[in-house]
Amino acid sequence: MPARSELFDAYALQGRDSTRVRMNFVSSADGAVTLGGRSGALGGVTDRALMQVLRAMADVVLVGAGTVRAEGYGDLRVRAEDVEWRRAHGLEDQPALAVVSGGLHLDPGDPVFAEAVRRPVVVTTDAAANARGALFEPVATVLACGLEVVDLGMVLEAFARRGWTQVLCEGGPHLFGALLADGLVDEVCVTVAPRFVGGDAGRIVQGAAEGDRRFALAGVVTDDEGFAFLRYTAG
Ligand SMILES: NC(=O)c1ccc[n+]([C@@H]2O[C@H](COP(=O)([O-])OP(=O)(O)OC[C@H]3O[C@@H](n4cnc5c(N)ncnc54)[C@H](OP(=O)(O)O)[C@@H]3O)[C@@H](O)[C@H]2O)c1
Repeated sequence: MPARSELFDAYALQGRDSTRVRMNFVSSADGAVTLGGRSGALGGVTDRALMQVLRAMADVVLVGAGTVRAEGYGDLRVRAEDVEWRRAHGLEDQPALAVVSGGLHLDPGDPVFAEAVRRPVVVTTDAAANARGALFEPVATVLACGLEVVDLGMVLEAFARRGWTQVLCEGGPHLFGALLADGLVDEVCVTVAPRFVGGDAGRIVQGAAEGDRRFALAGVVTDDEGFAFLRYTAG
């Protein structure tokens, strides 16, 4: 397994001044985004270590409500050694968490709120914030960006005003599709698991119209379990 320091080096950020959206996904070698309905079953030891490293570098972890509902996002706390790394780099001890939901049909009692180490942000529309935002005020900050549809560009601007420029998006596929369609993705980290699962699992991008969006291969790391960790950067 690559050392953590090797992962920090391989995924080092160029700077923190401008907004940068980094996606992180795991996929089987035949393109499945889940095994048994969850992504965790596809991953491995290095994948989990990389997820921690990427979280350690992030100002905010962004996820879609579908991922929260499917994966049961609980406490995302980074470990003590990563807190040290963050302090040394002038960051808050823990990254923030932001959940995107158009309809706000989330449970305010969900572990994503109840176990949060920092008060999470729920990103939604003006319409949903007016209708259901008050339910979440005790457990999260409601951020309305867009009248009837979440405007993801507006979301990133709102993050930047909070000083959150390094955005780690952990999915899911529909949120990835929306960010990609809006031209807002700077980097894609894909773990390719040495598994061929078949079935009818979806791909890591859903909902975006077909397009020849070219990214450059910026890095490849492998481990002794046969996983490949690919890093792509936009334009
Ligand atoms: N392999 C991996 O690395 C990986 C990573 C993440 C997730 N997954 C898997 O992906 C599956 C979930 O897929 P998914 O596509 O449903 O996940 P998703 O993108 O996290 O969730 C979709 C939901 O998020 C909200 N959302 C996403 N984009 C939005 C936008 N642009 N504007 C407004 N709301 C938006 C909506 O919530 P509301 O319905 O509340 O309006 C939408 O229904 C799960 O099985 C999960 O395990 C795999």
